[in-house]
Amino acid sequence: MTQIEYDRQYIWHPYASLKDPPRVRLAKSADGVYITLDDGRRLVDAVSSWWCVAHGHNHPAIVEAIRRQGERMCHVMFGGFTHEPAVELARRLAEIAPPGLDRVFFADSGSISVEVAVKMAIQYQHAKGRPGRSRMVALKGGYHGDTACAMALSDPDGMHVLFAGMMPRHLFAPKPAGCDVSAGESSPDVGEWAAQVERTLDEHEGEVAGMICEPVFQAANAMNFYDPAILAEMRRMCDERDLVLVFDEIAAGLHRTGPRWAHERSGAAPDVVCVGKALTGGHTTLAATIASGRVADVISSGTPSAFMHGPTYMANPLACAAANASLELFASADYAAKARHVEDVFRSRLPTLAALPNVAGVRVLGAAGVVEVRRMPSRGDIDRVIDETGVWLRPFANFVYAMPPLVTGDAELARIADALAAVAALPPGEGGEDGDFHE
Ligand SMILES: Cc1ncc(COP(=O)(O)O)c(C=O)c1O
Repeated sequence: MTQIEYDRQYIWHPYASLKDPPRVRLAKSADGVYITLDDGRRLVDAVSSWWCVAHGHNHPAIVEAIRRQGERMCHVMFGGFTHEPAVELARRLAEIAPPGLDRVFFADSGSISVEVAVKMAIQYQHAKGRPGRSRMVALKGGYHGDTACAMALSDPDGMHVLFAGMMPRHLFAPKPAGCDVSAGESSPDVGEWAAQVERTLDEHEGEVAGMICEPVFQAANAMNFYDPAILAEMRRMCDERDLVLVFDEIAAGLHRTGPRWAHERSGAAPDVVCVGKALTGGHTTLAATIASGRVADVISSGTPSAFMHGPTYMANPLACAAANASLELFASADYAAKARHVEDVFRSRLPTLAALPNVAGVRVLGAAGVVEVRRMPSRGDIDRVIDETGVWLRPFANFVYAMPPLVTGDAELARIADALAAVAALPPGEGGEDGDFHE
């Protein structure tokens, strides 16, 4: 059996069936913005491997940091021990985190960091003598991960609907209206949106622990850019009702939309922020949940005073070393300008696609360009475009998008724009293919 044949028979891929599984390509190596296949062909990674490879694949500085750490200590349990990579990383995160946020919990993936944030909100309310406050308000159109608690906060009518029976029941604010954020457009609906959320909060007085959203950019579910004024409204409501405000910056943070944190456009700061994906520059899995001193102090004065979470690989030293090297790279150059440059290229190329018959809309913010199609072309047609253009795309639902490494050069950005245009020009498919539903 070849490796591909073995893979097809025995290995589940994300959002894929083992019966007639979708095509996978055999990746042999990766460097910069390229993934090299076993037959020697190279693909431009236009999705930065699900938006984490910010500095390019196998960045020498990050690889070297992992190698050096590996020679000293690959892992040690974080219960009862600490280590230099974790301490250094916590210091670095506290320096760049939103104002007042400096208490760091290391998690092993983005989804887990969201679970941790929700547990913080609930323990905060518990410590304040309000054990009944155990629900969150999340936004329709959102995505926060695939573990149970993160699914329960994601769009209730979306990809996780199959599991509704086992999930905690949270409350949902309407999906914010889309708008052209970098053009300074604002949404006329924010006041009505806030009034509706306030009514929900009133109806469920005494039940809600906090609010959570992906600031400005709802990524994996809706590819929706929305008015930052929504965040200021959330901040106000949380202040008025003593709720914990969580910003999930796992996709949008670390310059994906331009500024370091997407919420910076709003002037509203969270009580807890989740960061992951680009934290290690896409070199290994790590996320962090960073809380304010106020939230941490309240939790620590409750009963129990311990924060009740502790995964086996918490603060893995290899991952922390990778993240330190990645944050060093972020500090060494103007990544906001890099994101702006990608935005400029996408803005100069993508809007004309709106005239194509299968295109419902085009939007761009920072290093994210989205072409919404009326109906997704067939997987076979999209595969052909990938093979012919040498650009790796992973469209989902109705979205053909690019979120390339922030360091992508002009030649590759032009190829990415060409590939997006080629998919946008394909005829609509029949629909209903497994996996179409998700990122
Ligand atoms: C906003 C957001 N939150 C959470 C997650 C989950 O992160 P992970 O896949 O690392 O568990 C994702 C992943 O796409 C995400 O985009």
